[in-house]
Amino acid sequence: MTIDYTTGADGIATLTWNMADAPMNVLNERSMAAFGEAARKAVADPQVKGVIITSARPEFIVGADLNMMLAIEDAPGMMRFVTDLHALMRGIETGGKSFVAAINGTALGGGYELALACHRRIAADNPKALIGLPEVGIGLLPGGGGTQRLPRMIGVRNALPMLLEGKKLTPAKALAAGMVDEVVPAGELLARARAWLLKDGAANAVQPWDRKGFKLPGGPVQSPAGYETFTAGNAMLREKTFGNYPAPAAIMSCVYNGCQVDIETGCKVEMREFVKLAVGAEAKNMIRSLFFGITAANKLSARPQGVATAAYRKVGILGAGMMGAGIACAAAEAGLDVVLLDTSADLAARGKAYADACWAKQVQQGRMSEADRAKLAARIRPTSDFAALDGCDIVVEAVFEDRALKAEVTRKAEAMLAPTAVFASNTSTLPITGLAQASARPANFIGLHFFSPAEKMPLVEIIRGQATSDDCLARAMDFVKALRKTPIVVNDSRGFYTSRVFSTYVGEGLTLLAEGVKPALIDNAGRMAGMPVGPLALADEVSLELMARIRRQTAADLGAAYVRSAIDEVCDRMVDQLARLGKKAGKGFYDYPQGGTKRLWPGLAEIWPAAAQQPDVAEVKRRLMFIQSLETVRCMEEGVVTAAIDADVGAILGWGFPPFLGGPIGQIHSRGIAAFVSDCEELARRHGPRFAPPELLRKMARENELFYQR
Ligand code: NAI
Repeated sequence: MTIDYTTGADGIATLTWNMADAPMNVLNERSMAAFGEAARKAVADPQVKGVIITSARPEFIVGADLNMMLAIEDAPGMMRFVTDLHALMRGIETGGKSFVAAINGTALGGGYELALACHRRIAADNPKALIGLPEVGIGLLPGGGGTQRLPRMIGVRNALPMLLEGKKLTPAKALAAGMVDEVVPAGELLARARAWLLKDGAANAVQPWDRKGFKLPGGPVQSPAGYETFTAGNAMLREKTFGNYPAPAAIMSCVYNGCQVDIETGCKVEMREFVKLAVGAEAKNMIRSLFFGITAANKLSARPQGVATAAYRKVGILGAGMMGAGIACAAAEAGLDVVLLDTSADLAARGKAYADACWAKQVQQGRMSEADRAKLAARIRPTSDFAALDGCDIVVEAVFEDRALKAEVTRKAEAMLAPTAVFASNTSTLPITGLAQASARPANFIGLHFFSPAEKMPLVEIIRGQATSDDCLARAMDFVKALRKTPIVVNDSRGFYTSRVFSTYVGEGLTLLAEGVKPALIDNAGRMAGMPVGPLALADEVSLELMARIRRQTAADLGAAYVRSAIDEVCDRMVDQLARLGKKAGKGFYDYPQGGTKRLWPGLAEIWPAAAQQPDVAEVKRRLMFIQSLETVRCMEEGVVTAAIDADVGAILGWGFPPFLGGPIGQIHSRGIAAFVSDCEELARRHGPRFAPPELLRKMARENELFYQR
């Protein structure tokens, strides 16, 4: 049963959503058909005076079924879906009977739009409930009339931020924003809905926007306030998205055009915009990577089966530096007891002070209570004594990036641990299989690569060494989940996956500079392509000194196999000759004046004079983005990454690869493999063999294979 239909003696019909065979109540073809039938029945029944829509499950309705959204590929198919959806909504609001949405739990997207089509919205004071229109976050717009009804209900100026930022509000905040009419105790929800229908229902069975003389609250679109909202809004949008994200622009367009006409016409405007977005590459990419990919990773879909879930109580962290302190902070927030160890009590205490400062700031901002702060602070025990590691379920090593030192602390820590405890290294560059040689039990040795700042960054790259057991991998994944972070699992290799691919972006920026491309063009192209930061600015942030050190270590390890490139020349020049080490040193590609904003160092023009002929920005963007996809394919070819979706999730969460492209593999998928191969052949002819498409791609192009289903 999808919709339970009951009618009371008082003439109030109740339509209760209850999709028993789905994980949650969602809008799909089946549930819409069932609901439509129930709603028509209620409207047609002369005994029925008013209708309550509610749910028998913890949530109200969480939105459209995204599997269905991914599956509908063609515009006519999408138009059929959205036409049915609008007919359903209009059927409710123009049927002549009053409908109340009794919002018992989360009402998002199409679920909240259904509530908008009702004549009143009453929400339960359920602390877990979230209300809003978050479609923009997956590249869509609210396609069930949300862009039309919300501005007609609360005004354009109030509605736009809800639509453009996709905010999810608690019932109390939704009430304050005018998005629901009442919030009542959960136990009184249905009684209150009933009482309203019996008393006020008949007088309110026509929506305000269907009455003669309706005026948009807050004033019309064509007014001084309206011009200001839309002109400023458009400019801000452009500044933020560089036109890469079509959804927010389409939302503005729906509100602008749709709110100057009647609701029926407005809905048609919305339908057209929705269909364009929903069949477009950006939405498909975002739904696949941001929704399905991250959800599957969080559910540990790659976890080896048959291993009991590990519970974590006490974690040891070796090294209380930048990373160790951040990991300690995250672990304490996840409810674990933390032993934070460094070479001296002072250094350990300094690491703890970092976590303390994070929490103190939250208390100051009113986001944490003093009692909670004290509870968290008590969980971290700073020490220089390895004996304190006794009883730890897992140890995370984050000492200096030095093989001998890491080996020493591995031995010292293992001496204190139970034989089953997991030993994880947070190394960013050293292969795990080699580090595991210092371990007395390499099967329990694994890489857990956190990102900086570790208390905030959501990704953990789990690196499986040659000797790492399934059991250890499963338990390490449980640990990442316990920290409320998202894991991807990769196999051992130099730079693993994330650092290796990310460094190609920075490296291509340095290569462009060496070729005489203007630095501003390079960094602007990176940002215009959707990367959070340009490659030169990023090199400064990572530190040129660290980059140079890693490259030298790699050269030493690889010997004759190492091929020096323009990247090495630029790094060495900046570090050795110019002592411009990066942001921390206050100077790198940029100058960082105290208290001022950074600006490109003018001296760059003398060292790498601008070429007379500057490339087109599109070409620079393409080089910066395609190089990442190519390296990702090489990682897949070498078995470092085994699933395309892991690569895409890791890139988006790890270094901010633009979600509209879906990830480095998503970028190839949207372009089409054959087209991508031929683009890269062209780039290789012009810029060198690093752009030559790997055999895996050529083969996939030849055999018409896909990374993702179409
Ligand atoms: P850091 O220099 O801030 O901290 C290292 C800490 O280890 C220092 O506090 C030091 O006193 C301590 N230490 C040194 N010898 C020790 C010993 N024998 N016993 C206990 N503690 C000892 O370095 P950071 O940046 O925190 O890096 C730590 C590890 O994390 C490195 O392996 C690095 O490659 C890796 N990593 C760093 C990232 C970053 O963005 N900085 C990102 C991901 C991994």
